[in-house]
Amino acid sequence: IFDKETIESCIHFAGLKAVGESVVKLWEYYENNIAGTLTLIDVMRKHNVKNIIFSSSATVYGDPAQIPITEECPKGQCTNPYGWTKSMLEQVLTDIQKADPEWNVMLLRYFNPIGENPNGIPNNLMPYITQVAVGKLKELGVFGNDYDTPDGTGVRDYIHVVDLAKGHVKALKKIEENPGLAIYNLGTGMGCSVLDIVKNFEAATGVKIPYVIKPRRAGDIATCYCDASKAEKVLGWKAENGIREMCEDSWRWQSNNPQGYEE
Ligand code: UFG
Repeated sequence: IFDKETIESCIHFAGLKAVGESVVKLWEYYENNIAGTLTLIDVMRKHNVKNIIFSSSATVYGDPAQIPITEECPKGQCTNPYGWTKSMLEQVLTDIQKADPEWNVMLLRYFNPIGENPNGIPNNLMPYITQVAVGKLKELGVFGNDYDTPDGTGVRDYIHVVDLAKGHVKALKKIEENPGLAIYNLGTGMGCSVLDIVKNFEAATGVKIPYVIKPRRAGDIATCYCDASKAEKVLGWKAENGIREMCEDSWRWQSNNPQGYEE
């Protein structure tokens, strides 16, 4: 592709991303995510392409030192190989930019995207809920209701995949101004609990979601949401969709595609 096309910037989305799977298939995760990115960087420098936008994750903050999480918040201990690949790749890209300031590196730390097509039984909350709603799964297991949060269930910053995509378009515009190294949180800045999501889903769709309280899931933290003001100030980007739209759109997709895109 690099031989054939004239490329100004890369948005690097290619990566394995299932937290649980990464614990078992760690070779595949390090090989694909780390080695794949090194290959891309090598090809980029050979073609004198020095602009990269990288899909990172809020997971690099570990158990965050402060809430809401700003970009200045120190990186933390990841609890799985997937998280470490993101954290290590951020370091690799940071070092490359430091060594050659002609590089522009944008690290976009996604919070909890809503609107991805899951493979098999979903690990993530929203696809699990939509599969319960469509009758593929019996009930939702809520992983813990004894966290130090308003209703005891885990709080996250869910972001509509369309807003996430628009954030990349803004980042692509910004990279033309040679920003050097830049880090942005991509989230809404609003925390939602598991039960908030269940209630909003039921209200948005009229479909009841049966659930049972289960023990906490290993590696989960109580609360994770961002301060989204830097992306708004510098990129002119702000998430436009709320939890209601995320529920409606997830349900529209799942009810039109009960088997997902697997076929
Ligand atoms: N949850 C349930 N039941 C489920 C699934 C999830 O109660 O069946 C709860 C979790 O305990 C958590 C919340 O719903 O409180 C969200 O869980 P997800 O699995 O949807 O998302 P995570 O916050 O665990 O992980 C996400 C991404 C990771 C990323 C991480 C960054 O999936 O890729 O955010 O913080 F690393």
